[in-house]
Amino acid sequence: MTQRLTIRRPDDWHLHLRDGAMLAAVAPESARHFARAIIMPNLVPPVVTGAQAAAYRDRILSALPDGADFTPLMTLYLTEETDADDLAAAHASGLITAVKLYPAGATTNSASGVTDFDKVRPVLERMAEIGCPLCVHGEVTDPAVDIFDREAVFIDRVLDPIRSKTPGLRVVMEHITTKQGADYARSGGPDLGATITTHHLVINRNHILVGGIKPHYYCLPVAKREEHRKALVAAATSGDASFFLGTDSAPHTDPAKLQPCGCAGCFTAPNTLSILAEVFDREGALDQLEAFASLNGPAFYRLPANEARLTLTKGDPVQYPPQLETDDGPVTLFDPGYALHWAIQD
Ligand code: NCD
Ligand code: ZN
Repeated sequence: MTQRLTIRRPDDWHLHLRDGAMLAAVAPESARHFARAIIMPNLVPPVVTGAQAAAYRDRILSALPDGADFTPLMTLYLTEETDADDLAAAHASGLITAVKLYPAGATTNSASGVTDFDKVRPVLERMAEIGCPLCVHGEVTDPAVDIFDREAVFIDRVLDPIRSKTPGLRVVMEHITTKQGADYARSGGPDLGATITTHHLVINRNHILVGGIKPHYYCLPVAKREEHRKALVAAATSGDASFFLGTDSAPHTDPAKLQPCGCAGCFTAPNTLSILAEVFDREGALDQLEAFASLNGPAFYRLPANEARLTLTKGDPVQYPPQLETDDGPVTLFDPGYALHWAIQD
């Protein structure tokens, strides 16, 4: 008998859609299965003003196929020069849903991010006042800190101090990759949430490095030890309202990834739901997939859950093309390394 699973239409609480030809190619991939997505602002140049967010939103809407049911939830990129009034107006009008904090230099296109966290304190206080959530890329950039420790150190050195100095600030720890991240998110109360990516539920650092280097598994924050992957799977499948899906689907062309200094990012938009269903199925936790992908995120962002439903069916292995062709070049899909049995009914 075919196994079926029907859930509310999911949302993606952390997504890179890029711009231009790449946007045109990847936007339909997310719109096929997701109803809404928090759109990352790390374009070149970054989306720092309300006017830029409005223009980017229009470009995204123009890239969607006719009849697509997909709402981009825009964000502003926080800099040390962010204008709190512009931010508050963009939030009040519904143009932006959140603001993204990148420590300067932490990841792709983060050069305009924050170096001195005291400089953004007034903006963070304003955000707490108006109820605008802060999405945080939680890694320190101190060269003395090992890359595998950067998330745990960020929690102690930056995140926890920001949260205690800014009561009422609602924070999403983006793409957590460690047990420490999951534990901190779980203990943070209703003003703290955490997104977990699809790929961090699947790979640990051995997948990147053992038997030859795998550039398509390289993303930031970098995948950690197996014990951390297991902690993320436990968090995602637990049903705990602190945890929700943010794919961090981050397309880069193959030439950009396959070079001596390759870009960080895994492209998971086309096969994310099949992979998630496989992960949850293996854990005996299919009954928690809807909470993770469709319920906990809207609850944190104080938005209604989607009314539309999406059905997955289990059967013979589902094949995805290995690459998405774009006018910028091919983009390789994330390969979980095992067969996927869950197909999504369009
Ligand atoms: C993202 C990108 O390519 O924009 N890369 C990544 O490895 N996740 C940036 C980010 O979210 O850190
Ligand atoms: Zn990202």
